[in-house]
Amino acid sequence: MDKLVLIGNGPLEGEVRISGAKNASLPCLAASILTAGTVNLSNLPWVRDIYTMCDLIRELGLEIEDNDDSVEIKGAKINSHIAPYQLVKTMRASILVLGPLLARLGRAQVSLPGGCAIGARPVDLHLKALEQMGAEIKLEHGYIDARAERLKGAHINFEKVTVTGTENIMMAATLAEGTTILDNAACEPEIVDLAEMLIAMGARIEGAGTERIVIEGVDRLHGCDHRIIPDRIETGTYVCAAAITRGRVSITNTEPRHLEAFLAAMKKAGLPMEIHPDRIEVFPHEGLRAVNITTEPHPGFPTDMQAQFIATMTQAEGTSIVSENIFENRFGHVPELKRMGADIVIDGNRALTIGPTPLSGAQVMATDLRASASLVIAGLIAAEETTIDRIYHLDRGYYNLEGKLGNLGAKIRRVKNGSDTVQRAVEELSNI
Ligand code: UD1
Repeated sequence: MDKLVLIGNGPLEGEVRISGAKNASLPCLAASILTAGTVNLSNLPWVRDIYTMCDLIRELGLEIEDNDDSVEIKGAKINSHIAPYQLVKTMRASILVLGPLLARLGRAQVSLPGGCAIGARPVDLHLKALEQMGAEIKLEHGYIDARAERLKGAHINFEKVTVTGTENIMMAATLAEGTTILDNAACEPEIVDLAEMLIAMGARIEGAGTERIVIEGVDRLHGCDHRIIPDRIETGTYVCAAAITRGRVSITNTEPRHLEAFLAAMKKAGLPMEIHPDRIEVFPHEGLRAVNITTEPHPGFPTDMQAQFIATMTQAEGTSIVSENIFENRFGHVPELKRMGADIVIDGNRALTIGPTPLSGAQVMATDLRASASLVIAGLIAAEETTIDRIYHLDRGYYNLEGKLGNLGAKIRRVKNGSDTVQRAVEELSNI
């Protein structure tokens, strides 16, 4: 397994260009199942989850050609309705093919995603909504087996805000008979991006980005060209990296309006920033203040920024209380940050970070995607070397992380499985 080696050093400096949003690309790729036409998607980040979703839709019979950050998808022939265990087990977001397959083919068999490192993560709300739309659903042999001759519009009131649930049902409803109303829908920018793509395909959708989305079903959808929005979580991760190193970083090709709650928290912490429509300039500071946050559905503070925020708060003056309200088990980074010297106490769904504490490099293990990013952020300022194991988690969601941080002056290197040694990487980094 590859590892990342970092040696904490001075402030980051320079420009970093943000890639397309992984969590917008995944539903948009799945939406291509809805049409026999040709879909062109651009600004895709070539991270592991995107390869997995491309493999999955190829497995269903769609043809995909890629070119730089774009793909052309031809959906004329779909010859399978099965999303197999081997692919779904590596990526929970594979569940996003359920709605489109059922709407286009009237049948879908999708392996049930298991629990994951950050909680149970059931898909019951996706299934309940499809049943309300007339689908017959059985759970057998670890698979969801769904059938519906043609889905019917329904009034769905999600008990809990679910991002991929809203996406799945919005896609299914585009080809249903009649009108579907989604109440308590997720409002994330990725939902709006998907709705814009579906509208470009001929879907009739109103209200995406609000708690009520209304979809009037049509008989068929056509191909489209669509550009994926910038990744707000990658953006926030670089804001944290700049902040913890007291750097001067220009974060470009992004949409700051998609991460207002996070940026407000960083401003409250005393981080000097200039926010432009498509870029953020982060400036050096003389010290940060502890800030309390609570993770919430959009437009609240995103749970996907919680781990990176805690890493940053280890260097802020005072006690920062972070309440995790979305997932029940999302503090996997805390024991690892403590091994690096952080002073953090877990109290139920709250993490109390007492700062500032000096961090020292250690061997640490990534437990999930965003937890891994928090260890990288801590490693940027930790004394001597930090080695992060299991970075396949990072590869699922961050495009060229070590290249982008390296360009900003970080001492960071990937050690390939078997081809290099950590010691050699440390020596090389020490000599930079
Ligand atoms: C998406 C994001 C993920 C982010 C999360 C919350 C993608 C591919 N992933 O995940 O990065 O952390 O939103 O912003 O976009 N729940 C149920 N039943 C369901 C569905 C969800 O109980 O059927 C619960 C979950 O366990 C969780 C909460 O609802 O506690 C929110 O989950 P959800 O919004 O569905 O997360 P994902 O869509 O899986």
